[in-house]
Amino acid sequence: MPRITRRTLMAGGLGIAGLSLTSRLALGGAPEVFQLVAQETRFTIGATPTAGVFTYGTGAPPVLRLRQGQPARIEVTNRLPDDVTTVHWHGLRNPFAMDGVPFLTQYPIGPGETFAYEFTPADAGTFWYHPHCNTLDQISRGLAGIIVVQEATDQGFDADLPLMLRDFRLGGDDQFIPFFKPRNAARGGSLGTVQTVNWAVAPALAAPAGGLVRLRLAVTDVTRVYDLRLQGAEARLIALDGHPLPMPGALTEGLRLAPGQRADLALVMPAGAEVSLLNRLADGTDHVLATLHPEGSDLGRSAADLRPLPPNPLPLPDLANAETLDFVFGWSPDGKAPDSGGICGDVPFRFWSINRVAGNVDTPAEGANGLAPLAELRRGASYRLRLLNETQNDHPIHLHGLAMHLIGPDGRLTGEVRDTVLLRSHDSAEVAVMADNPGTWVFHCHVIEHQKTGLAGLIKVA
Ligand code: C2O
Ligand code: CU
Ligand code: CU
Repeated sequence: MPRITRRTLMAGGLGIAGLSLTSRLALGGAPEVFQLVAQETRFTIGATPTAGVFTYGTGAPPVLRLRQGQPARIEVTNRLPDDVTTVHWHGLRNPFAMDGVPFLTQYPIGPGETFAYEFTPADAGTFWYHPHCNTLDQISRGLAGIIVVQEATDQGFDADLPLMLRDFRLGGDDQFIPFFKPRNAARGGSLGTVQTVNWAVAPALAAPAGGLVRLRLAVTDVTRVYDLRLQGAEARLIALDGHPLPMPGALTEGLRLAPGQRADLALVMPAGAEVSLLNRLADGTDHVLATLHPEGSDLGRSAADLRPLPPNPLPLPDLANAETLDFVFGWSPDGKAPDSGGICGDVPFRFWSINRVAGNVDTPAEGANGLAPLAELRRGASYRLRLLNETQNDHPIHLHGLAMHLIGPDGRLTGEVRDTVLLRSHDSAEVAVMADNPGTWVFHCHVIEHQKTGLAGLIKVA
C-alpha cells in the first residue's frame, strides 16, 4: 500500500486513485518497488462512459511518488488489448537502458509481459511518465501520469497537489474521435475537445485554508499549449520542468506551458475564498480548468514561510569551452512516407524535419539501426545548442537524458534548466548542455503528431 498521509489525501483525488499503485519500502538500500499495469477501461469524462480508455491500474493514472536519491524499481505490465508499449520517464536523467524508447533502449513490452525499470532519481521535482510506442494513440487514450520526486528535505508545504492538464478528443457521444489528422499534423496539431485536470472537467479540489500549497502543473496533452493564470491568490513560480528557478517570482502574467512541460507554483490558500486555475483560449476568453476550495481551520501561513527549493545536482556546462551546434526545425518536403510496418504506430506522412531530415525514432529500422544521429557529443564536453524554428507553428522541443540550461540574451547561463523548450512561431533559443550521460538520446517535438511526422531525431553522447 502506498503511504497514506494527510498530504497524499490532499492530492485532489489522484493520490487516492493511485491505490492501484502498490509500493513497499525495502530496507538496506534495496529499491522501492512500484507496479504499473497498463490496461483498457471505461471512464466517464463527459456525460457518459468513454470506451477504449487506457490507464495504469484503475481510474486516472496514479501519481508516482519517488524520492530523490532513493532507488526505485517500477514493474510495468502490459495488459492492453493487443498492443505493445514502453514507458518513458520524461525529464528524469536516467541511464540510457531505462529510457523507454522502443528498439533504441528496449524491445516493446508485449501483451502479458512485464518490464522492470530501475533507476535512482538524481533530481527532485515534478516529472511525468508516458509510453514511447504508439505514443499518439496511447497518450490520447489516457496513458500519462505525474511523477513527484520528493526532495530529501521537508519543504514545509501543507499540501502538495499534482494537477495533470490534458484534453480528451471526444465526439458528441463521448467516444473517441480520430487522434491523427494529416491536415492538423501538418499545422498546429489536433486539439482535444474536453479539457481536464486529473481526468475531471473543472474539478473542485480541497486545499487547506491558510495553508502553504504547492501546485504541480504538468501538461501531458499531445497538442495543447496552455496560457495559465491563477485567480484568487498570489502565486509564486518556483520551478519549471522540475528544476527550481534561481529567482522565484510572482506569477503575474500568463504562464505558457506546452506539451511535456511542468511548472510548480506555491501559494497561500485564502481561508475564505476560492482560487481558480484558468486557461486563456485563443479568442481571449478564460476557461476554468479547476478550482481550489479552502478546507479546515485557517493555518495562518504566509508567503514568508516559503523555503527555497534546494538546487538539483546538475553538472554545469562550461560555456567558455562549448562547441556550437545548430538545429533547425522546419518543414519537410517529403509529405508522404512509406509505411515502415513498424509496430509502434508509424504514420505514412512526413511534414516536419530537424536539419532537413524527417526522422522517425520508434521503428526498428530507423530507431535502433538506421537513423543517423543529428549530432555526436563527446562525453563530458559542453555544447551550445542554437535552436531555430523556421515554421509558423509552436514546437515544444524535448531532449531526453540531458538537461538544457537556458542561455540569456547576454550570452550567459540564466540558471534556468528545462527538458522541453517551447519555440513559438519563428522563434529561436539558445541552450547549453553538459554531455555527461552516455546514450543515443531522442530529441523531438512534444506535439505528438509532429513527432510522428518527422520532427524527431537523435543526439548521441559517447
Ligand atoms: Cu515525453 Cu520522448 O518524450
Ligand atoms: Cu523525455
Ligand atoms: Cu512541433
